[in-house]
Amino acid sequence: MITSRRGFLRSLGAGTAAGMAVPWTLTGTLRATAPEPYPTRQDDGFIRLNGNENAYGPSAKVAEAIKSSIGSANRYPRMEYKGLTERIAGAHKVKPEQVLLGCGSTEILRVAAFAFLGSGKQLIQASPTFEGLEHYARAAGSEVIFIRLTPAFAHDLASMLARASASTTLVYICNPNNPTASLTPRKDLENFISKLPASTFVVIDEAYHHFAGQSVMYASFIDRSLDDERVIVTRTFSKVYGIAGLRLGYAVASPKVIGQMRKFATEDNINAIVTQAAAAALDDVDAVNNFIRLNTDDRQEFFNQAMARALKPIDSHANFVMMNTFHPAEELIQHFRKNDILIGRRFPPMDTYIRISLGRPEEMRAFWRTWDMLPYPKHSMQH
Ligand SMILES: Cc1ncc(COP(=O)(O)O)c(C=O)c1O
Repeated sequence: MITSRRGFLRSLGAGTAAGMAVPWTLTGTLRATAPEPYPTRQDDGFIRLNGNENAYGPSAKVAEAIKSSIGSANRYPRMEYKGLTERIAGAHKVKPEQVLLGCGSTEILRVAAFAFLGSGKQLIQASPTFEGLEHYARAAGSEVIFIRLTPAFAHDLASMLARASASTTLVYICNPNNPTASLTPRKDLENFISKLPASTFVVIDEAYHHFAGQSVMYASFIDRSLDDERVIVTRTFSKVYGIAGLRLGYAVASPKVIGQMRKFATEDNINAIVTQAAAAALDDVDAVNNFIRLNTDDRQEFFNQAMARALKPIDSHANFVMMNTFHPAEELIQHFRKNDILIGRRFPPMDTYIRISLGRPEEMRAFWRTWDMLPYPKHSMQH
């Protein structure tokens, strides 16, 4: 048993302790376009499997853009703000007036809460789902109605619809959903939106869009728009693009709705570094595709390891996985923490489930080694 952080680092091997990425797939083939080996650990020595970030990013080209933007840090990036808005609009084939940039998509969620909610108004959202909007809805004085996910971990749209009234001015749909990494079928969402009261806006949070793939089950509401003024789609640069630390997200909606929201956005909410980094990230299509491939491999390997232990995680359409451990999640969170691994927070009411963000192969090997050290009898963690 490894008792100290240094011992644990040693147990990962010298290369890993120095933060080297392992550029080999399980089949022994070189990951041809494996990104630069940035250190996987923060200075505190923790392996971070708790933030659903891109464990490999940013790409080398984005890193270069970050470095070369340093000289512009003394200026407000107002021209660049306009340029980036146009660049994002172009990428989605919408007008620049349909795009609102935010300090992370978290700012967009805050803006949506203050633009559409307030005292006497209600937000309806799933339980569990990402909590950002819920906090701001409360701050705006709104009631929040929670509807449990279905047994298949989709949004329970029938129950959400049954609770919707004229005072429900906002519905939050996270697809793929955080923390379950599950999808709500596209057709069901279309049907749901068409039946909502005319005064109900819908935020569709597509933070994990790139990992969901295209299928009958899933299509982005930006790529296949409903042309419905009530739909606001949010995206982020914190996931596949690998720049969570630089804070950039955005909304796509009708010019009228974006205009309404813009009033609540922070002035100068975007920094001089991220405008350059984001433009480079959008241009670096190969890197995005490579990150998606790496995630597919890492996700598959997670499921292989889980199956070898007779565990059954929820089918994942994102860069994280949730699974039932049949033990209090808090005990597992603490077990991993003691072993220098941070996994996702608790997500009530799924109190025996843990959420694991996919890390690099060596980080995931550390995860499974630590899993195997759990003091529970094996059969007590299986279905
Ligand atoms: C579904 C979802 N939306 C929004 C966010 C916020 O992301 P950011 O503010 O970094 O864009 C997160 C972060 O994990 C998330 O999971």
